[in-house]
Amino acid sequence: MKNRDDLFLKSIFTDNYYKIYNLHTLYTLNIIFSIIHKSRIIDHLKSNFISCEELIKRLNSPAHVKCSINWMLDFLEQAGYVEKNVENNNILYKCEVDIPFSQTGQIAKEILGLDKNWGPFLKLVDSIAAEYESFLNGNKSGIEVLFYKEKMQLWNNYFNNNFSGYSVFNLCGAYGLSKWFSQKDRGNILELGGGTGGAVIQVLDAFKRAHILDKVDKYVFSDVSPVFLRIGNRIISEQFQEIEDKVELKVLDFNKSFSAQKIQQESFDAVYSVNALHTSHDLIFSLKEIYTALKENGILVISELIRMSDNHVLPQEIIFTLLDSYYNVKTDSLLRKTYGFLTPETWRIFFEMAGFKNIELITNTDCDIGRSLSRIHPVFMLVIKGQK
Ligand SMILES: C[S@@+](CC[C@H](N)C(=O)[O-])C[C@H]1O[C@@H](n2cnc3c(N)ncnc32)[C@H](O)[C@@H]1O
Repeated sequence: MKNRDDLFLKSIFTDNYYKIYNLHTLYTLNIIFSIIHKSRIIDHLKSNFISCEELIKRLNSPAHVKCSINWMLDFLEQAGYVEKNVENNNILYKCEVDIPFSQTGQIAKEILGLDKNWGPFLKLVDSIAAEYESFLNGNKSGIEVLFYKEKMQLWNNYFNNNFSGYSVFNLCGAYGLSKWFSQKDRGNILELGGGTGGAVIQVLDAFKRAHILDKVDKYVFSDVSPVFLRIGNRIISEQFQEIEDKVELKVLDFNKSFSAQKIQQESFDAVYSVNALHTSHDLIFSLKEIYTALKENGILVISELIRMSDNHVLPQEIIFTLLDSYYNVKTDSLLRKTYGFLTPETWRIFFEMAGFKNIELITNTDCDIGRSLSRIHPVFMLVIKGQK
């Protein structure tokens, strides 16, 4: 007999979903093909093994593009197009097979044929790809490529619950929070990095369906950026008038002391966050601040995109490797080996180090984690709960 979590996950992550997910990985690979050809990176990869630093020198690119180039080369290596060698602690790359020309048009058609709600992914990635060369040659910053002018709308669409590719993180997070919050009598909830409000809407919806909306005494919707608070507030008052008077908006930075930002110790029964905490500059610091803000037995529930090993390169990173904040995090050779998204095991260890107990994990497939790099059903979503 399948348990409730399995049944829920199966209803979200259907075979059709995985088919599209894998096509979106292929689409990203083809975008890389086109960047590698256009920027002539390919010319430098053909003859000898070359380091990322040397490649940047030959391209006359600024040093800050290293993370993006590294990501592209690692993605190509993972897909079998590039060989990677380590010599004297230097990572070197060489192209062993022909890099095909991009076939994004055909793949886009296939994706939209399977689910027309994947458009926001295609539009956002296409807009980034169109300016990638300007980024590589230093004419545009990552912020300009990603956020200037009409691009904010592309982001709104990407993080929107109408985009099936992303909404799974909001749906699964809401499922987890609803499951664990319903075990409490009632309480206050703090959401971190609430962004454009996709996560809170799914939470309120899940709570309503589970008849626990009236258990919420206060819902604090927070983000480091005040712009998002206005957007979140509008969405909540449009869709959930019945809880409007229990919602508070707060500018809150999880890289800074919570008490200095007037968050009282032991004042929340649950802290919730979707795809934000992996950007914490010092994850153990942020988790300890959250721990302190929780009451005894309070819970932290987060939903996050995950990688399955430290070397696993994710297609979604095409967006984030353009941002300094993505890789400007505290890493160490033992615990957090890479910046960006974490593995389930690393999340568990960080939760434990911050003091959380009764840790539970929900991932997007019931297959065993050891097999999870499977290309048919790749694992990429984690909901994790820890208790104070
Ligand atoms: C990928 S978005 C996720 C937004 C939202 N949770 C969702 O799933 O739609 C990450 C969010 O984290 C916020 N964020 C980034 N750094 C932060 C920090 N140091 N403190 C609080 N929020 C932060 C960003 O402003 C952004 O809204």
